[in-house]
Amino acid sequence: MRKIIIDTDTASDDAVALVCALRDPQLQVVAITTVAGNVPLELASYNARMSVEYAGTYAPPIYAGCAGPLFCPLETADQVHGKDGMGDLDQTPGCTPLRASTIPLTPGHAVDALIAHIEAEKEPIDLITLGPLTNVATAMRKAPEVMKKLRHITIMGGAHHYHNPHTVCAEFNIMVDPEAADIVCTFGVPITMVTLEACAGRARLGPDMIEKLRACGEIGDFFVDCNRTMIENARAAEGVPSFDLPDPVTVAVFSHPEMATTRFESHLRVETKGDYTRGMTLFIKPDDFYSLTLPEPLPLTAEIVTEVDPQQFWQYLLACARK
Ligand code: BDR
Ligand code: CA
Repeated sequence: MRKIIIDTDTASDDAVALVCALRDPQLQVVAITTVAGNVPLELASYNARMSVEYAGTYAPPIYAGCAGPLFCPLETADQVHGKDGMGDLDQTPGCTPLRASTIPLTPGHAVDALIAHIEAEKEPIDLITLGPLTNVATAMRKAPEVMKKLRHITIMGGAHHYHNPHTVCAEFNIMVDPEAADIVCTFGVPITMVTLEACAGRARLGPDMIEKLRACGEIGDFFVDCNRTMIENARAAEGVPSFDLPDPVTVAVFSHPEMATTRFESHLRVETKGDYTRGMTLFIKPDDFYSLTLPEPLPLTAEIVTEVDPQQFWQYLLACARK
């Protein structure tokens, strides 16, 4: 059993990831921290509480954190996740609204909770991040010695070749708060970055997987329903329903690292200045001659995941929905 903290801007794919983590017998979620990203902080926290309830296993403390990026205004992703982050089911004729959450938030700020939980653990624990890195960077600036106790950080973020609809070169979680992402990438705790291309493309779920998930019952229905906006966007554009699950892929890769079929080691930096390239993730290979010309030393190398085995991921998802 591996102990983890999950930091999340909970909207549809984060919600699925939380349910998977809470139903994965290999993992023990000791705390959930929420951050603004896909949706404003209040909605992210509400959606996290609802997800814990749908998981139907145990209820770790849930702490609300930063309401916006370190130095820039918040950009949300309503067009991907709906205004409420969960497919706006209650506004959509013919859809059954999701169950309301009765689980309360735990008092205290997520940044202080991150620090307190990491400090309280006897053994170093892992952190999985599924949203912008504002909470984590703030905790690193506030209590660097405590945050150095983390064993490892697994980040859903970054893009090697792909990008989100918002810009031509950046992935959403990194783009929303590039300064925070660069603080985390250069901090010195080992990182695995699960990039957008690992989660899209071949790992995308089509009609067949939608049907298999629905056949699992209430949790499978939840996985599909809270992704309604993305599924309907695909149906409108391509005539066929489909969706990506970047955050669940990240939890699955953490739980079953063998699922990652393509990975490489790289120094990692985030562009914080460009007019067009802000939020771009820069992968600088250790043997790249460019690294020899830099004025400052490069951070630790990170493990970059760019491909997963779709079959293994889908089996993991179905197992989490079924059990
Ligand atoms: C990431 O951005 C959000 O839209 C998703 O929740 C995921 O964390 C994918 O780029
Ligand atoms: Ca997310």
